[in-house]
Amino acid sequence: MDLIFASGNAHKVEEIASMLPARFELKSMKALGITEDIPETGTTLPENAELKARYVYERLKAKGIETLVLADDSGLEVTALNGAPGVYSARYAGEPKNDTANNNKLLHELRSTTKREARFVTALCLIMHAKAYSFVGEVKGTIAYEPRGNYGFGYDPLFIPRGFRSTFAELGEEIKNKISHRSEALKKLMVFLDQNRIS
Ligand code: IMP
Repeated sequence: MDLIFASGNAHKVEEIASMLPARFELKSMKALGITEDIPETGTTLPENAELKARYVYERLKAKGIETLVLADDSGLEVTALNGAPGVYSARYAGEPKNDTANNNKLLHELRSTTKREARFVTALCLIMHAKAYSFVGEVKGTIAYEPRGNYGFGYDPLFIPRGFRSTFAELGEEIKNKISHRSEALKKLMVFLDQNRIS
């Protein structure tokens, strides 16, 4: 079964593709000719995930392609910053979006506090026959005092998941994909697809 992924983020495509059972084939929207940055004007992660999924669903429908479309909107919520950067995680340090600048800004904002608690949240949205279904996952942890590790992307060098001493970027793909916000949301999606006998 084809699942079209409404994102241009190659890291997300890779992570989700590696976690999906083999009966699903994740195809990036780029492979279907949709290359633009989809506007994320929502104020919550589930809203933005639905905006992205619907955008691609409608574009494909206009071409006569009726298919399942999946989108992912994720964010990092830091307790000492009242939940920031949250839904604005991608552009925390401004335009154009840049992971290193975002990480530097986060460290700067937290420079005078030892309160490091945070959580990563992923909202997945599946569009099936024009209806939207939402699946949310989270992982709790803390923010490191400096970037560490080379795996992953985004805020991974700063995020230490609860129960570990290493950042996601040090732990690597195998451990991240077992415990991450994205894998928790994906597990819920899989239960839904199984219950609806979609394979
Ligand atoms: P978006 O979901 O593409 O809008 O991403 C929001 C921001 O969070 C971007 O800066 C991403 O790089 C970052 N991000 C999303 N998922 C992850 C993750 O799994 N690890 C680290 N950073 C992430």
